[in-house]
Amino acid sequence: MPGWMVVSCDYSDDDIRAREDYAACCCAVHNIALYLWEHGIGMKWTTGEVTRDHRFFKLLGMDYSQTYVVGLFWYGYPRTIPTQHRKPVAEVLSHVVSSPPEN
Ligand SMILES: Cc1cc2nc3c(=O)[nH]c(=O)nc-3n(C[C@H](O)[C@H](O)[C@H](O)COP(=O)(O)O)c2cc1C
Repeated sequence: MPGWMVVSCDYSDDDIRAREDYAACCCAVHNIALYLWEHGIGMKWTTGEVTRDHRFFKLLGMDYSQTYVVGLFWYGYPRTIPTQHRKPVAEVLSHVVSSPPEN
């Protein structure tokens, strides 16, 4: 495993802000994953117990009371690329707007 990346997010007292901050971090992660994959580097998202252990925060110099871990990401060049089995889009998409609504 050539590399590990940690993405963290600060807590917020404002519920909406907190949700948007988490969403923004997830978008950033997704963009990073797409960028890496363009260069043949795979990435795996993990949120195992270690990501909530205060010793992990100490190791990284992060404040346990101020921030939380969005993900610990393994990345590297894959030896093999697993095949994926996805549901057809029609099975998970219930409604598509095909034309803009009339005024
Ligand atoms: C928020 C989040 C947390 C995840 N945590 C773990 C984890 O702790 N352990 C793990 O093996 N995979 C974890 N994954 C990876 C998923 O299991 C899955 O492999 C990844 O999202 C790719 O999806 P796919 O299997 O549909 O291709 C996590 C994914 C997300 C989005």
